[in-house]
Amino acid sequence: MNIGHIGYSLAEKKKLICPWQLAPLIDNRLRPFVHNPEKIFAPYVAEGMTVLDVGCGAGFTSLGLARIVGDRGLVIAADIQSKMLRMVKERAVRAGLSNRIRVHLCEPVHIGLQEELDFAVAFFMVHEVPDVRAFLEEIYKLLKADGRFFITEPKIHVGFRAFRRVIQESQEVGFEIAERPSVRFGQTVLLVKGN
Ligand SMILES: C[S@@+](CC[C@H](N)C(=O)[O-])C[C@H]1O[C@@H](n2cnc3c(N)ncnc32)[C@H](O)[C@@H]1O
Repeated sequence: MNIGHIGYSLAEKKKLICPWQLAPLIDNRLRPFVHNPEKIFAPYVAEGMTVLDVGCGAGFTSLGLARIVGDRGLVIAADIQSKMLRMVKERAVRAGLSNRIRVHLCEPVHIGLQEELDFAVAFFMVHEVPDVRAFLEEIYKLLKADGRFFITEPKIHVGFRAFRRVIQESQEVGFEIAERPSVRFGQTVLLVKGN
C-alpha cells in the first residue's frame, strides 16, 4: 500500500501555485503585525549583502530585506509570475527602495541566476515547487561558502512530515541545520552551506 501521500495537504499533492490575484489577501494590512521581515531577518542579514527572495510574491519580504541590506546591498526578488514581480516593482518605487531590489522572472524548475548569494529566503513557497531536490541543489550552488538559506513553510498547508522531508533533502544536498527560528504560523529552518 502506498502511504506516501499521508500527511500531505491538497496544496502539497497538487503543487498548487498561489495565483497573483490572491496577493492582496496575503499581503494585507494585518500581515506586518504577524510577520515583521526586518525583525525576522535582522539576525542573519547585514548591510551590503546580496540576498535572494525566491517565490517573493508581491514582495512583502523583499521590501523588509531591502531595508536591511541598505544602499550597498541587493535583494533579488524572484518569482514565476510576472504579475507578482510587477507588484514588487511598484511597491519598491513607492517605498523608495527600487535601487536595492531587482526583480527576476524564474522558471518553475530553474531559478536561473548567476550572482553569488550571501543569503536566500523561501517564505511560504517550497510546497509549490515542482522539483524540491533540484530547487535545493540550485540554491546550494548559488550560495557563497557559509551562505545561509531560510525556509519557512505554512503550517496550514504543509504537514510536519512533509517539512521534515524538506529538511532531510536539504541535508542530502549538503546543507547543515544552523537554527530552528520561530516564525508565526510557520515551520522554519535556517540552513547553512556545508563545506
Ligand atoms: C504563497 S506565495 C508566498 C509569497 C511570498 N513569499 C510571501 O510570503 O508573501 C508563493 C509564491 O511562490 C511563487 N512560486 C511558486 N513556485 C515557484 C518556483 N518554482 N520558483 C519561484 N517562485 C515560485 C508563486 O508564484 C507565489 O508568488
